[in-house]
Amino acid sequence: MGFSTDAIHVGQEPDPATGAVVAPIYQTSTYVLEAMGQSKGYDYARTAHPNRKALERTLAKLEGGLNSFVFTSGMAAIDAVFRLLRPGDHAILSQAVYGGVFRLTTKLLTDFGLRFTYVDTSCLEKVRQAIEPATKMIYIETPTNPTMLVTDLAAIAQIAREKNLTFVVDNTFLSSYLQQPISFGAHIVVHSMTKYLNGHSDCTAGVAVVTRQEDADKIYFVQRSAGAGLAPMDCFLVSRGLKTLAVRMERHDSNGMAVAKYLAAHKKVERVIYPGLPAHPQHELARRQQRGFGGMISFDVGSAGAVRKLLNHVKLCSLAESLGGVETLISNPATMTHSSIPPDVRKQIGITDGLIRISVGIEDVEDIIADLDDALAQV
Ligand SMILES: Cc1ncc(COP(=O)(O)O)c(C=O)c1O
Repeated sequence: MGFSTDAIHVGQEPDPATGAVVAPIYQTSTYVLEAMGQSKGYDYARTAHPNRKALERTLAKLEGGLNSFVFTSGMAAIDAVFRLLRPGDHAILSQAVYGGVFRLTTKLLTDFGLRFTYVDTSCLEKVRQAIEPATKMIYIETPTNPTMLVTDLAAIAQIAREKNLTFVVDNTFLSSYLQQPISFGAHIVVHSMTKYLNGHSDCTAGVAVVTRQEDADKIYFVQRSAGAGLAPMDCFLVSRGLKTLAVRMERHDSNGMAVAKYLAAHKKVERVIYPGLPAHPQHELARRQQRGFGGMISFDVGSAGAVRKLLNHVKLCSLAESLGGVETLISNPATMTHSSIPPDVRKQIGITDGLIRISVGIEDVEDIIADLDDALAQV
């Protein structure tokens, strides 16, 4: 079946007890046993519940994986994936990785004997050079947040195969609809489902989609032992959001392209970073491995002062962290999403004080552009 058919039907079969087209929210913490040691498949909601099972089936199908595990946030899912590593192990990460992942790895996981190297994974030579005997994992974002660097999925998968490394891709920025890392050889895909997969900015959630049984067993063990599995109501919300993922992404994509072209032609905008523009250095690679370019754009207005003027004047675009919802959100990575990255590291990876990140929503694109036009006039 096609992507949208799977998104609407896999894991979302009518409720066998009542025929309800939309399965009920099983808002219960525990399940009565029929007799000692005899359950109907569920005993306690931390371990498993029907809404979680349903959502995990849908996500495994959409991402082309063996199984998936959903968590209370993207960070909880990513943390579960890093628990595949053991003290002494080393992992290579994209240099411009999401600020929360930088914080988790540098400030928390290093205390447990793990080591991390951050490299520009869009440069294959740098990835090869960073590999050590203890390296066990390559973890990338493509495109990176917010610098929009594209990493060659097939080439990294080849390196991972040669060196026997686990290849993990954070697919948050494009969603399962616009990019399918497993089809290029990734072993694990993670998402902050807080973003496009849910798409309505009404819960936080994350997923790890796996392709190997051994990873499935370990991540399920983390989910039920550490207890950060996604709750019934939030599973219901994400399942509902997924049904419209394809149509939403097509609109994010077309609106994104229109806004990127508008910004690129504006004299007060110094630089637009959007892989959909032919001027982007990795435009051809993005065309090859993505179904579209999505709704995430970064652009530079030159200074923190110009950023302040613009962000204080937008009206339709909401000044907020996060991305991937139906509404347009705009932010300044240096002071918001990426403030946990030290200023010298930010500078080195291109997160300038004048950089603005916009998550283009699915409103009428003329209204988004008119709002940006009014705000840019204040700069
Ligand atoms: C690319 C990316 N990965 C992971 C995360 C973390 O997800 P969450 O906020 O759901 O924990 C984010 C959050 O902004 C993100 O942008």
